[in-house]
Amino acid sequence: MRARIAGTGSSLPGLRVTNDDLGKIMDTSDAWIRNRTGIGARHIAVEETTASMSIEAAKQALEQAGIKAEELDLIIAATLSADHVLPPLSCEIQSALGAVHAVAYDLCAACSGFVFALNTAQAYIQSGLYKNILIVGAETLSKLMDWSDRSTCVLFGDGAGAAVVTAAEEGIFAGVQGSDGSKGMVLSCGGRPVHNLFADREPEDPYVRMNGQEVYKFAVRTVPKCIGQVLEQVRLQPQDISLFLLHQANQRIIEAVAKRLGQPMEKFPVCLEECGNISAASVPILLDQVNRQGRLKSGDKIILAGFGAGLTWGAIALSW
Ligand code: ACO
Repeated sequence: MRARIAGTGSSLPGLRVTNDDLGKIMDTSDAWIRNRTGIGARHIAVEETTASMSIEAAKQALEQAGIKAEELDLIIAATLSADHVLPPLSCEIQSALGAVHAVAYDLCAACSGFVFALNTAQAYIQSGLYKNILIVGAETLSKLMDWSDRSTCVLFGDGAGAAVVTAAEEGIFAGVQGSDGSKGMVLSCGGRPVHNLFADREPEDPYVRMNGQEVYKFAVRTVPKCIGQVLEQVRLQPQDISLFLLHQANQRIIEAVAKRLGQPMEKFPVCLEECGNISAASVPILLDQVNRQGRLKSGDKIILAGFGAGLTWGAIALSW
């Protein structure tokens, strides 16, 4: 059996902050942000939380899949910005949905998190262990930004996306994933303070720090390569794929990947113009938007790809 995406959902916070809004409160401009990244706005959580956006997205995905929360066997929440260290975000989602039979745990693989979670779901379904799985990618990155660092804070946003996957004859048919911990400091966010009876240490820098140019080089090298590996597994060519849904970090990265694969930009939908980079939530939000726009037809072959901190990367090919 394969994992088939049976329903999707997404949720963005109500507060929309444009590049011009940021230009009024820091030394930046719409032209700088838009030209370098393709980002025009981002949504910032004020009342919303990582959990509340996750629950909203999950309810939509369950409704579209026609599956009751009690039928879920497993919930995986991909996040690096849960509201609390404990309980896990996935358990908060389980409780709010009343998914009383589901096992729930979180998975952190930064911007690759949703793709890794989907690969995990595929493995469980293939093994016969679980049938109905909810995957959520959710972030409140605004709380991890140093708002005095214009080189990072303009890039990120908040939101959540979800997918319900079920056991079916058609669905995910290939996947790759990888990690390189030796490059971890290219994109990092520090930890909590250590206060125990034996040690007292101030927290590391608690904000997201990024070497943008290194991340750019990594992305344009690795994403086409891992998409190529997925296609090779199943002897398909890029032209056999209807849509490529990439992690939404930067328009220029997406354009570079399209060029390397020799495919037109129409096959690479984007939501980063409106949402910015939402790490693990980017791919499922884009997937939900494309799904609800009716751009996915039964039998279409699509690719999902994530890449980010860790460093981590992954791609999945599936039949819709
Ligand atoms: N507004 C105006 N000026 C700015 C801003 C800003 N928001 N941020 C930086 N600058 C200035 C810098 O201070 C610098 O000025 P200087 O030349 O006087 O020193 C100048 O702009 C150029 O800065 P760079 O950092 O060299 O800009 P670069 O052209 O590399 O663009 C960017 C930065 C957009 C981050 C680019 O490196 C990039 O696209 N990286 C890809 C990584 C990425 O998208 N990461 C997202 C998260 S990672 C992930 O999701 C996988």
